[in-house]
Amino acid sequence: MVKLVETATEFELSPTLEANEMVKQRRARGEQVLHMGFGESPFPVPERLKKALSESAHRKEYLPTGGLPELREVITSYYKDKIGLDTDKFDVIVAPGSKLILYSLQMAIEGDLLMPVPSWVSYKPQARMLHTEVIKVPVRLDDEGFFIDPDTLRSVIKDARSEGKKPSKIILNYPSNPTGLTMTEDNLKDVAAVCVEEDILIISDEIYGFVAFDGNYRSISKYAPSHTAITTGLSKHLSLGGWRFGIGFIPKAVDGLNALLNNIASETWSCVPAPMQQAVIEAYKGHQDIEDHIQACTDIHKLMNIYIAEGLRGHGIDAPLVQGSFYNYPNFGSFREGAAKMGITTSKELQDHLMKTYGLASLPGTAFGEDPETLTLRLSGCDYDGAAALAAYQGGETLDEAFIEKYAPRVKAQVEAFGDFVKQASQAKAA
Ligand SMILES: Cc1ncc(COP(=O)(O)O)c(C=O)c1O
Repeated sequence: MVKLVETATEFELSPTLEANEMVKQRRARGEQVLHMGFGESPFPVPERLKKALSESAHRKEYLPTGGLPELREVITSYYKDKIGLDTDKFDVIVAPGSKLILYSLQMAIEGDLLMPVPSWVSYKPQARMLHTEVIKVPVRLDDEGFFIDPDTLRSVIKDARSEGKKPSKIILNYPSNPTGLTMTEDNLKDVAAVCVEEDILIISDEIYGFVAFDGNYRSISKYAPSHTAITTGLSKHLSLGGWRFGIGFIPKAVDGLNALLNNIASETWSCVPAPMQQAVIEAYKGHQDIEDHIQACTDIHKLMNIYIAEGLRGHGIDAPLVQGSFYNYPNFGSFREGAAKMGITTSKELQDHLMKTYGLASLPGTAFGEDPETLTLRLSGCDYDGAAALAAYQGGETLDEAFIEKYAPRVKAQVEAFGDFVKQASQAKAA
């Protein structure tokens, strides 16, 4: 009999993609859904990039595994100019999505993964596919941001080593999916110091780097260039998830790492599709229209997601004020008693209740590494017509509550649904 691998039962369809499919099916049946389940930026492809892609349709040859030299050069100068990256210390590799670079980095570095909780859904399944242990690192979430206490990190590493585990890499993501929070420069500096001291490779997932609401792109690479690999791409700030284009900045200081990643790439995806490599050059040339587009999209993400945060806080829900990306990550712990009387004791039950009662799709905290009883949800603030919103903003309309009512009525309805839920939970508690 043909047998599946032992770890097969650990894997499910990625919860984000599953939530999206479910919503599409419900909408196809004509059902109303408030979609906060999937983090897909809703804005259209910039005209310049559409044109570049159509003009590249004739490219059909295999290209260099790590990427066209011209493409890697423009990427290097872009990151040098925009964020001051010390590009002499890194090699560049491109791939069909940063997810594959994250996976390849996990594959390339011997040892176990340190994973802050909460963290993005795919880090842990990727580690498990590679038979790597996942060691959780607790995180503090509040209005100051996503905070990793350096002493706690040090003791997690020490304890893991004393149990015979081999922590050797950590994945950090800021602004973060699922929390919408980012790390302060001081915290990045402190965490970098611990990682250098303990010889831990930092895999810095900076896919939301340009979707920081204060306009500051942060990168821990500044504090630990010898110990940081950066992953990023076009999926978030340019809303091009389906173009499948990712970038890795690989530290030259880690001997052989870039060569190994190129070898992995050559034995798996071979190269990023040729028309895409050619077209994407235009995304990194610093054209003003592309830069304006990125800024306008970030401004709208900021409006929507701060509106959600403030709306939730207005209903008495513990929701830190978000700082980037397009998510909120509220904690319903203070409604636990009332929720329990409604039959809700886990984040999954909370997710199911909201779907049944309000047609509201979300993702439970468990998808991000939390214990089942931690009543957190990830809420994506992308459920509106991005093309219409962007055109209105570029046409001079002001980003305010009236804008949300006009262009994002479902976002308003989502906040109202949470208001109703906490009212029900409070009444259940009092009953
Ligand atoms: C935190 C985070 N990292 C990585 C990715 C993967 O992005 P890509 O489309 O580049 O594979 C995503 C996409 O949802 C993400 O949210």
